[in-house]
Amino acid sequence: MNPIQLFDPVSSTFTYILTGPDDKEAVIIDPVDHHLERDLAHIERLGLHLAYVLETHVHADHVTSAGRLHERTGARTAVPSGCGVPPAELQLRDGDTIRFGKGETIAVIHTPGHTAGSMSYVWRNNVFTGDALLIDGCGRTDFQGGSAEALYDSITGRLFALAEETRVWPCHDYKGQQVSTIGWEKRHNARVANRTRADFIELMEHLNLPKPQLIDVAVPANRNLGLPHGV
Ligand code: FE2
Repeated sequence: MNPIQLFDPVSSTFTYILTGPDDKEAVIIDPVDHHLERDLAHIERLGLHLAYVLETHVHADHVTSAGRLHERTGARTAVPSGCGVPPAELQLRDGDTIRFGKGETIAVIHTPGHTAGSMSYVWRNNVFTGDALLIDGCGRTDFQGGSAEALYDSITGRLFALAEETRVWPCHDYKGQQVSTIGWEKRHNARVANRTRADFIELMEHLNLPKPQLIDVAVPANRNLGLPHGV
C-alpha cells in the first residue's frame, strides 16, 4: 500500500496523503502552504475525510498549511512534542499510535538529530522519515537543536531497525528520487553506509551549508501551524 506522494518544486518538499484500501479517512503529512488547494482537491476527489495533519518537524524551508487544513476540514493537528508548536491539538511522543480509518495505525518514532524534536512515522510497510533519513542522504544538523550524534543514532539505531523491505518516504529530495527502502539505505546511503559514528560526525560538522533562505520566516510561522494568530 503506497501513500499518495505530492511534490513542491520550490522547496523540494514531499507531502503525503495516507488512506487505507476502500477507506474514507485520510492523514496528510508535511503539507506546504501554497499547495493548500491542490491538497484539498485530492482529498475531495477521493471522497476522503481528513482525520489528521502530521508534521515530522518544524520546517525551516517552507511554511506548513496545517493550521489552514484544520480550519477547512476539521482535521486534528499533530506535531512532535519537542518541536515547540503549542497550538497543535496533539503533542506526539515516542511510542504513540495514531489511529484512523478502518483499523489503520501510525507508529510514532522519535528520530532526533536534524532537529531535537523530529519524528518519523510508520504506516503499514512505509516509514515517513522527515529530514532524518533522506534517499542517499540525511538532513543537516547545524540548527534547531540539531545534533550529528543524535542523527547517527536515530538512523542506525531506530530507522535501520525497521524491516529491510520497509519503504522510505523522505520529506525532501533534490535529485528526482521518490522512494527507497531501509535495506537499500543501509547498504548504499552516501552519508551513513559503511561510516563509523565518529566519521559521520566529522562529515556533518564540515558540510558548511548556507543558511536556509526562509528560516527566519518559516520557523516562527510553523511554530504556529502556519497561521498568523494561532488556531
Ligand atoms: Fe527540515
